[in-house]
Amino acid sequence: MEILRLKSEVRAQVAAWKAAGLRVGLVPTMGFLHEGHLTLVRAALADCDRVVVSIFVNPTQFGEASDLEAYPRDEARDADLLRGEGVDLLFAPEVGEIYAEGAQTTVETEDLAQVLMGALRPGHYKGVCTIVCKLFNITGADAAFFGEKDYQQLRVIRTMVRDLDIPVEVVGVATVRAPDGLALSSRNSRLAPEDRDAALVLNRALALAEYRLADGVDADDLAHEITNFIAAQPRAQVESVDIRDAETLAEVHGDIVAPVVILLAARFGPVLLIDQRVASPD
Ligand code: PAJ
Repeated sequence: MEILRLKSEVRAQVAAWKAAGLRVGLVPTMGFLHEGHLTLVRAALADCDRVVVSIFVNPTQFGEASDLEAYPRDEARDADLLRGEGVDLLFAPEVGEIYAEGAQTTVETEDLAQVLMGALRPGHYKGVCTIVCKLFNITGADAAFFGEKDYQQLRVIRTMVRDLDIPVEVVGVATVRAPDGLALSSRNSRLAPEDRDAALVLNRALALAEYRLADGVDADDLAHEITNFIAAQPRAQVESVDIRDAETLAEVHGDIVAPVVILLAARFGPVLLIDQRVASPD
């Protein structure tokens, strides 16, 4: 596996592969890889002839400098894991290589970036769109792989690709969970053991939601029931429970007639966890 730091090197390598008729996949990450990331990598390897993984802790999507500094990093371990999977190229640039001094252009999905997690973290999705758009331009990959765990991020990226005619196929990959059901996240390592157990309430709440949906429950009642279910776990502090249209992320009230996504955010001690599930009324 080659490790490249310069945009020009990556561009040249991918161009050579594409000239040879090979399909190139991209898996953008911020590193500190776990099975969730590696599942995206395996999906890319199964679908493409060559796979590029990027590791870049993108400063423009963090609200606070302290959050950015605290972000866990271990490039040597990540590189070993990716080598073991059979990845062809790791792109791990420095910040200065990605953001030129005086850069003025950003990409933002106007409405989708303002709601849900975007409302909690102003500017976050602008940072995500801008870096992902740049990675698409730098690599020229044919396909790019993203986790459904970050459901709004995936919707935002699909919308950007559609609106700006970016020639890349965006592939969503189902959330990878620990055997007991907790969605994998680099944040899980910061959970106290009792909070790690308590956090199982999120996946249980999603199972309950699916079951209640099949019963024909109304959206507002469902949000209420789910909120109460999570709040009954004393270690959980509910941040948000949203029932949204699975496609547009528009609010859903009253009867549920089309697929919805149930989006949960709750705090366990200092750690904010999110989880989601798409479910249909029938
Ligand atoms: P990061 O948090 O490192 O996640 C990289 C990719 O892994 C994302 O597409 C995310 O949805 C996916 N992922 C994380 N946990 C997962 C799980 N349990 N199951 C399936 N997929 C999972 O998301 C980002 O980085 C950044 O915002 C990025 C897109 C790289 C832009 O900077």
